[in-house]
Amino acid sequence: MTVKTSHPLIKFSAFKSKLFKLVFSSALFFSSSFNYACGIATSSLHAERIGCDVLLKGGNAFDAAIAVSLALGVSEPYGSGIGGGGFFLLKKHTDADFTFIDARETAPKNTNKIDYRKNQDYLKYGPLAIGTPGIPSALDHIFKNYSTFKINSLIYPSIELANHGFEIDNRFAKAIQRKKKYILSNKNIKKLFVDKNGDLLKKGDLFVQKDLSRSLRFFADHGFESFYDSALTNKLVKSIKVNGGIINHQDFKNYQIRLRKPIEFNINKSTINSANLPSSGGLILKQILKILESFSNSPKFKTEFNHLFIESMKLAYQDRAFFLGDPDFNDIDIDYLGSQEHISKKIKKINFDKVIDPEVYENQKTKNDSDTTHFSIIDARGNIVSATLSINTSFGALFVPEGTGIFMNNHLDDFSFENESNTYGLIGSHFNYLKPFKRPLSSMTPTVLEDDNSIIVIGTPGGSRIISMVAQYLSHYLFFPNLSLEKIINISHIHHQYYPNKVFLEKSFNEKSAQILLKKGHITKKLNYNWGSLQIVHYRKSDGKIFVINDPRTQKGRIF
Ligand code: DON
Repeated sequence: MTVKTSHPLIKFSAFKSKLFKLVFSSALFFSSSFNYACGIATSSLHAERIGCDVLLKGGNAFDAAIAVSLALGVSEPYGSGIGGGGFFLLKKHTDADFTFIDARETAPKNTNKIDYRKNQDYLKYGPLAIGTPGIPSALDHIFKNYSTFKINSLIYPSIELANHGFEIDNRFAKAIQRKKKYILSNKNIKKLFVDKNGDLLKKGDLFVQKDLSRSLRFFADHGFESFYDSALTNKLVKSIKVNGGIINHQDFKNYQIRLRKPIEFNINKSTINSANLPSSGGLILKQILKILESFSNSPKFKTEFNHLFIESMKLAYQDRAFFLGDPDFNDIDIDYLGSQEHISKKIKKINFDKVIDPEVYENQKTKNDSDTTHFSIIDARGNIVSATLSINTSFGALFVPEGTGIFMNNHLDDFSFENESNTYGLIGSHFNYLKPFKRPLSSMTPTVLEDDNSIIVIGTPGGSRIISMVAQYLSHYLFFPNLSLEKIINISHIHHQYYPNKVFLEKSFNEKSAQILLKKGHITKKLNYNWGSLQIVHYRKSDGKIFVINDPRTQKGRIF
């Protein structure tokens, strides 16, 4: 572990004055009071405002993380919320090591009574698709172990936001449009999305969530743990049952987060901490970056970077497909899979001139049906939180238990089934087959890099493409030191996930570079959209400056 105890951010007062200078100078720049700078990056202006208020009132990064998680659930109900799961990578400024909170959903006990292959919709829409949520339990843990604020003050801003509502923005309106068919044909969800005339809500309309505000108030009165055994649980279970679901009260009572060791590794002089199983993120990120590192001194490294990056993704994602799943249900030798011995075998397969044939069929369409959320926080003391939260695809299972306002996840779709791929085109092995109480394999990759120059807190939504996006950003930081942060965030994304055998290119990907890949033998597919929403806090040690980077691909995109 190379994180020093004499952490540069511990110089609290000096840093604090810098932070406040930043707050005031940027307030002059931006007319909206939402746009003041603090060490929080999220895709939601509401969540960022609420989180920054907590920091300015003296709260720490963990207080802010609780407030931001709740506010994201309210303001982006298509992406995350208390009906979902996720992963928090965090470190107190006084700790040497990071902690990884696994708040991944678990499969309900009775999943073995359902033939999930009978109907495609079982895993995607409605109560059968729901895994027992982990977010309330994670917030409970963070609140009890890291927080300095009263629970009320962390929840209240989200109660207000849900109660009074907010204007639907472009992203939200697009998510509604994507799910239009299902929303309009489903009584349970339709009433939330139509106006008095029965028309679908659109950009600029007010989105009010009275039921959700009452559920959040329930937390304020009874604690986050009340989600799992209370009158609120009864409400959830009753509505799930009436609508044909299988999660019962015992599933809620049994739910427990897991505290795990993050994946930690070094590239050059940088130390990277990232998600461990049941997320594949950290291991695959490590393999990709280690493979690239092995070529980084070659004179051809820079000109052949795209080719090398594709080959390293192909080889790393192959392990995701074959060897990974819930570590509580499988004996997975994660140390070996991340070892130099194992990675060297992959490195030997790479040729500068010839493309590796992954020997997989390519009959798979990947869909752009997804929303999730990532936020990054560094506070003035040097406390760090990197968190990716999700209800899986847009609006999760599109099921909201009566009277709760809580959008439930559809994370059972992240399990693997023989000869089938999931929403993200991912295939998996028996390690990730559905079993009662098991956690589905994830790609969420909350990550923190630290070296002598910087601390970078990073992550993004994007399904299977999460890992490649984090790898692409960090590899440019690590191996192209002259690139500005603005350049790096704007580099067009490339993605290969072993299956299908295709290189996906963003719409903005340069045509000449695409031709070079084609000539080399890569099977490329340029999509008609760009993907991702990287949310990064970058602390520069030399002058104590914090850069908050919101991905320009999402409408709020900016760097300041
Ligand atoms: O856990 C996973 O890997 C996925 N359920 C995450 C979903 C996601 O990122 C959708 N995003 N845009």
